[in-house]
Amino acid sequence: MSIQRPKGTQDLLPGYIEKWQYLEEVIRKVCFEYGYEEIRTPVFESTELFKRGVGETTDIVNKEMYTFLDKGERSMTLRPEGTASVCRAYVENKLYGTQQPVKLYYVGPMFRYERPQTGRFRQFHQFGAEVLGADKPVVDAEVITLVWDLYQRLGLTGLEVHINSVGCPSCRPLHRESLQSFLDQRRTDLCRDCQDRFDRNPMRILDCKNPSCQTLTHGAPTTLDHLCEDCASHFTQLQELLEAAGVAYKVNSRLVRGLDYYRRTAFEVLVEEIGAQSAICGGGRYDGLVEEIGGPSTPGIGFAMGMERVLAAIEVQKKFPELKPAQFAMVIALGDKAQQRGFSILSELRKSGVPASIDLVGRSLKAQLKAADRVNAHYALILGQDELDRGRVVIRNLRLGEQSEVPVSEIVSVISDKYREGARV
Ligand code: HAM
Repeated sequence: MSIQRPKGTQDLLPGYIEKWQYLEEVIRKVCFEYGYEEIRTPVFESTELFKRGVGETTDIVNKEMYTFLDKGERSMTLRPEGTASVCRAYVENKLYGTQQPVKLYYVGPMFRYERPQTGRFRQFHQFGAEVLGADKPVVDAEVITLVWDLYQRLGLTGLEVHINSVGCPSCRPLHRESLQSFLDQRRTDLCRDCQDRFDRNPMRILDCKNPSCQTLTHGAPTTLDHLCEDCASHFTQLQELLEAAGVAYKVNSRLVRGLDYYRRTAFEVLVEEIGAQSAICGGGRYDGLVEEIGGPSTPGIGFAMGMERVLAAIEVQKKFPELKPAQFAMVIALGDKAQQRGFSILSELRKSGVPASIDLVGRSLKAQLKAADRVNAHYALILGQDELDRGRVVIRNLRLGEQSEVPVSEIVSVISDKYREGARV
């Protein structure tokens, strides 16, 4: 039997990859305009980083990591997310000693051993951004506005931006206590996962997707009921700033998120049309994380979006622009002599930056014209024995179906000029 790709992974082939390239292009443009710089960190890290960073009580660390021993018997893990790695890089490269805040973004594959389904993969891709070294609500607002702005530029509609404050180490214990006492009598009716969460991380019971847990937690105390003064003021200011920026958000007091590092702001963006895995973006503030992994006390906030899900949303909402890749010129050479001449014309065209190709398998004129059509070429440059004898090349405009002849010596400059003029037809 032939070898197949691992479950939950994808081959991204020509014909679809243009959509990825388009999304990446828009992402890079928005990040550039917002003053975020790219960071690339390793795809695998010491397992310890995620245990400490993402948290030992999370599903990601408990159930979903691709962990292995390398040949030196060190425990390594394929990164399940990017935030812990960015914080590690911030500490290791002493970025805290540079001008603050540091505004970074990343695009790349992440790995989680989850049950694959629509919108959920074992290797998926995230675009994420992190701001380290600034704790004011305006930073939270900027990060959420960047996400909002990106989705506007992609033409997405019907998005729901949910925000919440999950408090800080000084107010969260109060919430934990009152939530546990609310749930105590219903404890045995909770789903198995939530029974586990009761002691480890009861707050996560609030965003359990199990309908009976949702009923049981109806009316349960939320973090918003227990925020300390500083957290409450941070959350109010964030809302005012989002209103000022025109971001349509909803306060969702049950939004908790599945990673342990969050403090204060937590947010998610949902698009119902893409199915059960409707979260296209998630993020929040993580002021204790850098310290947790051995760095100086540093505030941080960021988000990550699943690119497969964003692409699915653009697809269902039919918002992709025309993305057919175009070769500008196709050199059609018939016979060995013509091929030699054609190949030299092709080299000249490429040197002057014109996207151009030549037949590589010895096809007939008809088949080569068809191939030119498939690559969406503007012009076919036809060179047979007859043209060669007369020192001329036929230029066929494939969009208009018109053709003319030019001397071989002029062909490169004629085509280059048309390319530079941005020939539309
Ligand atoms: P997360 O919520 O675990 O947060 O993931 C962020 C986004 O990645 C999700 O909203 C979803 O779009 C996508 N995603 C997650 N798992 C999968 C999967 N198995 N298949 C496809 N897409 C998936 C984080 O990763 C945090 N690091 C976000 C963050 C950055 N918080 C602060 N800074």
